Amino acid sequence: MKPMLLDELYQILKNVRVDNPICQYTPQKCALLLPYINKIRALKEKNNALVLAHSYVHSDIIYGVADHSGDSYELAKIAKETDSSIILFAGVRFMAETAKILNPHKCVIDPNPNSSCTLADSITEEDVHRLREKYPHHTFVCYINTSAGIKALCDVCVTSSNVYTVVAKIPNDKIFFLPDRYMGENVKQYLQESKIDKQFLYYHGKCDVHEKYESAHIDLIKNNHPHTMVIAHPECKKEVVQKADMVGSTSQMMRYVQQHPHKDYLILTECGISSRIQIENPQANIVGTCMLCSFMRANSLPAIISALENPSPSQIIEIDKNILIRAKTCIDAMFSYGS
Ligand code: 13P
Ligand code: SF4
Repeated sequence: MKPMLLDELYQILKNVRVDNPICQYTPQKCALLLPYINKIRALKEKNNALVLAHSYVHSDIIYGVADHSGDSYELAKIAKETDSSIILFAGVRFMAETAKILNPHKCVIDPNPNSSCTLADSITEEDVHRLREKYPHHTFVCYINTSAGIKALCDVCVTSSNVYTVVAKIPNDKIFFLPDRYMGENVKQYLQESKIDKQFLYYHGKCDVHEKYESAHIDLIKNNHPHTMVIAHPECKKEVVQKADMVGSTSQMMRYVQQHPHKDYLILTECGISSRIQIENPQANIVGTCMLCSFMRANSLPAIISALENPSPSQIIEIDKNILIRAKTCIDAMFSYGS
């Protein structure tokens, strides 16, 4: 990757106009960030490192240093196919763990000093053991937002981009989904509407970011801007999802806006998607507020530099071999369903 020029960086990032100053870029801010960006670009080349960035991290990481950015499914697929010897994942811990599970012999680095995820943290391995004992005939489906240890105890992994289709395709008519209760409610509703007859149970975890969206927010915006298109992540509550014009993963949201760029949008997910849409589809008009995931936003350029130069043990992903093998079976089951 050749060095970036200041104007090149600013011309990309200046389009972010969402209402949180943390997300916005001035020429001065770009000038401060540029030396870090160029240092990372040189380190990547020197170390043969691939940088993957989830769409929720700061735009300077996505547009300055990432080789690929996207949703959990796309990034897992890229991690599965890469030749690079080092994978640095700017996201949260379960994403870096997924990259490691798919690349047991590669060095996978998580630079993030606060790599939690409220959904992944909402269930323990003991909980899953207890549930499996209680529901021995159910297929256990876990959202990708879970630790390697939880995946190792489940049968099929899903992401927000394929949860509806994979659950519908699973041959068992008894399914236990974990850990997101709102995604569980949304999938249950979809199965009912599609007349797919399954006993579909789910756990009570939740994402603190998506839980904050209320259907009243949609009414408020629609009262003032009646033609606003509402796009929502399936981690939102059922009453929010039911009022949305489109429901999907973060990358599916971006593709939807790309196909209909000349509209007003209320985007019900972390604000990184609004930033990316403003950069890549400047004709689209974003209305509404900006909600941040503090875990994703803990990723920073200086942390990426130190992780590439001299990763600390806490930044290098290590997973017990038996857990890794079982978690890989769970993720491979997802890939076997296609999508
Ligand atoms: P996506 O896979 O849709 O990007 O979602 C990941 C996530 O953590 C949403 O909160
Ligand atoms: Fe986890 Fe929610 Fe942050 Fe996504 S937005 S990483 S589900 S805490």
